[in-house]
Amino acid sequence: MTSVPKAMREKADMADTPKANNMWGGRFAAGPSAIMREINASIPFDKRLWQQDIAGSKAHVAMLGAQAIIANADVKAIIDGLDRIAADYEANGVPVDMALEDIHMTVESRLAELIGPAAGRLHTARSRNDQVATDFKLWVRDAIDEVDAGLAALQTQLVIRADEHADSIMPGFTHLQSAQPVTLGHHLMAYYEMIARDRSRFADARARLNQSPLGAAALAGTGHKIDRQATAAALGFENGPTRNSLDSVSDRDFALDYLMAATQCALHLSRLAEEFIIWASQPFGFVSLPDAYSTGSSIMPQKRNPDAAELVRGHAGRIAGCMTALVMTMKGLPLAYSKDMQDDKPPVFEAHDLLALSIAAMTGMVETTTFRTDRMRALAESGFATATDLADWLVREAGVPFREAHHITGAVVKAAEDKGGGLMALTLDDLKAIDSRIDAGAMAMLPVDASVASRTSFGGTAPSEVRARVAEARKELGL
Ligand code: ARG
Repeated sequence: MTSVPKAMREKADMADTPKANNMWGGRFAAGPSAIMREINASIPFDKRLWQQDIAGSKAHVAMLGAQAIIANADVKAIIDGLDRIAADYEANGVPVDMALEDIHMTVESRLAELIGPAAGRLHTARSRNDQVATDFKLWVRDAIDEVDAGLAALQTQLVIRADEHADSIMPGFTHLQSAQPVTLGHHLMAYYEMIARDRSRFADARARLNQSPLGAAALAGTGHKIDRQATAAALGFENGPTRNSLDSVSDRDFALDYLMAATQCALHLSRLAEEFIIWASQPFGFVSLPDAYSTGSSIMPQKRNPDAAELVRGHAGRIAGCMTALVMTMKGLPLAYSKDMQDDKPPVFEAHDLLALSIAAMTGMVETTTFRTDRMRALAESGFATATDLADWLVREAGVPFREAHHITGAVVKAAEDKGGGLMALTLDDLKAIDSRIDAGAMAMLPVDASVASRTSFGGTAPSEVRARVAEARKELGL
C-alpha cells in the first residue's frame, strides 16, 4: 500500500457506495468503489451530448407509442418530462453526478424523479450502446455543419482579398527561395482550393454517417416490433437505419472520418498560418498583422507577435494527436461494444473546439491583415525571378532549344549579379554581349508585370486568370 500515492489511497479508502446502481445493479450486492465510479464515468465530458440524447429519446419513445409497444399516456408523460429536463439543462447546465455514469443515465434518472415509474418504459427496445452511437453521430453531424459554415466564411474572405490583390505582385517561392513572380491573389486562391477540398471531405464524412444506429439495441437487435425507419427519419438520418446491429453499435469510423478530415483541414490552416508568420517577420515584411490578432512583448516594446497564427500552427499538432488517439483506441477491438469506446468522445470534442477556433482565427486574420504590396513587389523585382521568362523568350522567339536557353539565361543572371541591382539593371548591350540573338523583345520580358501577365495558362498566375477563378469562386459561394 505504501507505494500507492496518498490521494489514491484516500479514494480507495472511501466507503464504497452502500447501494448498487439503480439502473443496472439488480445482481450487485454493493456499489462500485470511488475509483471504479471515477474511471467508469463519462458524464464530465459526455454531458455535451445532452441535446442529442434528449432528441434521440423523444424519437424513440414516439416510435414506441406509434408501434403500441407502450401506452400513449406514458409516451406523453415521458416527452413532457424530457422537455422539462431540456429546459432545465438549457438554463442551468447538466448536473454532474459520477454515480450516474453518463448523460444517458443522468437524463433517465432525472426523468424518473420527475414522472415516476413510467420513466422506466423509455429504455424499452433500446440499449445505451445504440443510444450513444446515435447521440454521437447526431453530435458529429452538427459539428460538421458548424465547421462547414466556418470554412465557407474563410473562403469568402480569401476570395475578397484575392480579388483586391489580383494584380499585386509578390515573389513566388520554391524551397522558400524566390522562384518566379506571382500575384498575391493567386497565392490566396491556392488556399481557397485547399479549403474547398476540406469541405468536400467533411461533406463525404457527413453523407457516410447519415444512417441511424438506433434500434440496434445492445448488439443483436430486438424482439420488440420497433420501426427503425421511423426513428431514422425523425432524427434526419437521410440514409435510413444502419443494416447490421453489431456494426451499428461498434462503428466509430464516423468519428474517425471527422477527425481525419479535421486533421487535413488543420494542416491547411497551419500552412496558411505559417505563411502569415513568415510574412510578418521583419526580413520579409509582407504583412502587418492587425492588433486584434497579435500580441506585444512584456519586455520588448517594439514587438508585435503573430501569436494567433502560431497557435493555429500549434493546434494542428493537437488535432492530429486527437485523431491518432481514437485510431489507437479502436485498433483491435472485437465486436461489438467495449467500454474502450467511451474514450471516443474527448478527442473528438477537443479536436472540434480547436478546429473551430483555428478557422475563426484564420478567417479574422485574412480579413483584416494589411498586405504590404510595395514591399512584396520590391522583393519580386530585386532578385532574378524573371530569368525563366527570358529563357522562354529565347525558346519561343529565337528558336533556341530550352536547355541552351537555360544556359544563356544563367550567364545573364551571373552578369546581373556582378553588376548588382537585379536583371532590370542590365542594358540591351549587356544582354547582346552574352547572346546576339537577344533583342528589345527579350528586354520586355524582364519586368515582373510582364512575367505574371504572360502566365495565362489555365490555373496560372496572370491577373486575368486569377479574376476568372475568383468569379467562379464567388458563384460557388453564392456571393
Ligand atoms: N457511456 C457509455 C459510452 O460512452 C455509454 C455506453 C455504455 N454501454 C455499456 N454497455 N456499458 O460509451
